[in-house]
Amino acid sequence: MTAESQDSEIAIEEIEVAPAWIASVRRTAPPAEVARAAAEGLGVVRAWLAAAGAGAGLRPGREVVVYHPAAGEVVELECGVEIDAPVERALAPIRFARMPAGRALCARQREATDAAVARALAALGQACRDRGLMAAVRWEIRSGGGSVEVYASIEPNAAQVAYWNGPGGDRWAELWPLIDGAMGAITAEILEVAAPRPGERVLDVGCGAGTTALALREGVGAGGAVTGVDISAPMLAVARERAAAAGAGTAVSFVEADAAAHPFESAHDLVFSRFGVMFFSDPVAAFANLRRAAAPGGRLAFVCWRAAEDNAWVTVPLGAARSVLPDMPAPIEGVPGPFAFVDRDRVRGILESAGWREIAIERRDPAMALGATLEQAARYVMMIGPVARGLAEVGEAVRDQVRARVAEALAPFAAPAGVAVASSCWMVTARA
Ligand SMILES: C[S@@+](CC[C@H](N)C(=O)[O-])C[C@H]1O[C@@H](n2cnc3c(N)ncnc32)[C@H](O)[C@@H]1O
Repeated sequence: MTAESQDSEIAIEEIEVAPAWIASVRRTAPPAEVARAAAEGLGVVRAWLAAAGAGAGLRPGREVVVYHPAAGEVVELECGVEIDAPVERALAPIRFARMPAGRALCARQREATDAAVARALAALGQACRDRGLMAAVRWEIRSGGGSVEVYASIEPNAAQVAYWNGPGGDRWAELWPLIDGAMGAITAEILEVAAPRPGERVLDVGCGAGTTALALREGVGAGGAVTGVDISAPMLAVARERAAAAGAGTAVSFVEADAAAHPFESAHDLVFSRFGVMFFSDPVAAFANLRRAAAPGGRLAFVCWRAAEDNAWVTVPLGAARSVLPDMPAPIEGVPGPFAFVDRDRVRGILESAGWREIAIERRDPAMALGATLEQAARYVMMIGPVARGLAEVGEAVRDQVRARVAEALAPFAAPAGVAVASSCWMVTARA
């Protein structure tokens, strides 16, 4: 442990945090009600552990509250009690979650009052901003005896690891059939652009629930191999189940790792991604790592979103939702997230700096098939994408209102074959 910095009140250290598990519940709360929501959440977990935990062989440890980077006005909390390892699938609302791990800044407070915790969180927030980290995962550990340790992750991509192992990952793990249905045309186009060939070794970056890894396997055939890499445990669990059900054997494998830093073998003929490469905190370093994963002359092929304003599946529902919730936030472009790569010159610059050559970035506008009916289409855009994120906190009555407005706005796109709305993507290719 090294003393990192110190002000008159709060000493901050940089430490390495080992991986650990918590039995937990999720809560969202406005900033002023975080302490109440955290106490309530911890109470639910404690009660569950007292009733079911001992029988299931769980030994409760310290209490942990994880603060995810704020989505708009609400704070998302994972409230839990440390355990050795998950023992079974718990019934909702109890779940097993991984605590943030890796490099973190830590402030220890002798008293666990709300004010002391808030001061420590603020000091850590400032320390993160000083390092150019805008959104960091923070957490506190209450060890009993009144003391509290407060942490902020300085691990690259930690906020994404938390998101894709949290609500985002759970949603995609459950809704992959709907997402695949919507993205059928986009998937066909990027697979055609990538053109996997028999016998090739392919890396599918941010492979999620495994759809494209399985499709790539068709392309490379029995003599080839596909490796999917992702940071999301819930999505990889689905991917592994699907690969087993498809009898993929060893031709398709999955690795839970940060693609930005994982030491891949330099053996891939094709580095591929469907919307899985826009989340890196340091994209140049990440694409340099992916270039090292490519065999000499290996190909890169990925699809990413163009500007939100050119994607009617974003603008139409967002406009309709705003007629009910005027403050619904617009997607942020240029920061790690779905719209990080809207600027073609920036994408080119990142790839050049990372050592890729023969870079080609082509606009394609495949349709998104949002659903067979207007009702289904409205439900889809309220579950996946920018409107879904903006609705995280609203109640059923408002959701019903939004759903009706969104369905109305999508009506001009309805046809006998279903509701299809334009998307706009970059199809990016390059060579190592
Ligand atoms: C929008 S989803 C796309 C998933 C999948 N490719 C698909 O099209 O269904 C983005 C995916 O990228 C993954 N991801 C984000 N950052 C990552 C990283 N640093 N390393 C590996 N995967 C990452 C997420 O966990 C998530 O599965």
